[in-house]
Amino acid sequence: MEDHTTAPTAGDGTATDGESVTLTRRRFLQSVCTSGAGITSMAWAPGASGQSAPQVPAQAGAVEGYPVTLKVNGTTHRLTVAANAILLDTLRDQLQLTGTKKGCDHGQCGACTLIVNGVTVNACLSVTVMHDGDEITTIEGLARDGKLHPVQQAFWDHDAYQCGYCTAGQMMSAVGILQDKRIPADDAAVREAMSGNICRCGAYKNIVTAIQDARGKMRRNV
Ligand code: FES
Ligand code: FES
Repeated sequence: MEDHTTAPTAGDGTATDGESVTLTRRRFLQSVCTSGAGITSMAWAPGASGQSAPQVPAQAGAVEGYPVTLKVNGTTHRLTVAANAILLDTLRDQLQLTGTKKGCDHGQCGACTLIVNGVTVNACLSVTVMHDGDEITTIEGLARDGKLHPVQQAFWDHDAYQCGYCTAGQMMSAVGILQDKRIPADDAAVREAMSGNICRCGAYKNIVTAIQDARGKMRRNV
């Protein structure tokens, strides 16, 4: 009959009387785990099994900077940005132009709208290095000589906002469509052209009224 008698242990499975003891179950499992880990670490060690470990470039993970020149609201800025820097973040974080808002960050709400070379753009979808040399107008650049832009004044006059989070983007889109001769002047066309700007407060009716008011004032100013 097989003898399963084991030597006294110290409670953790460690035999107390040295060489002659039969292995306890706990000790056996400990040795398997330890040797398994050893085998595993050997397998991943450089040179194990005759294979060398993959070489990691010394600069892996380092962010390279790229020079870019942006003309923002009439001022030229020479910046160094990461290759994947987004225009909205560059304007807000590097130039502290925080009037342009981040809403959805997915091109769906229009809160980040600004004007690049005369065309409205969603800044959250624009890579900064793609705008080298471009002329950019943000909400901070609309007023001139301390006087509100007609669109800003009309939004104020017609209470075209509540919380105001969407307002900068709404006004930049409004300026864009009022400058675009291809867009008809009727309310339906304005609503369609402004459909990329979401207002969670539902100020749409007053926004359209403000845009039509600004249209008349801009015409008179020309
Ligand atoms: S934040 Fe850019 S479209 Fe919403
Ligand atoms: S005013 Fe609040 S989201 Fe438009």
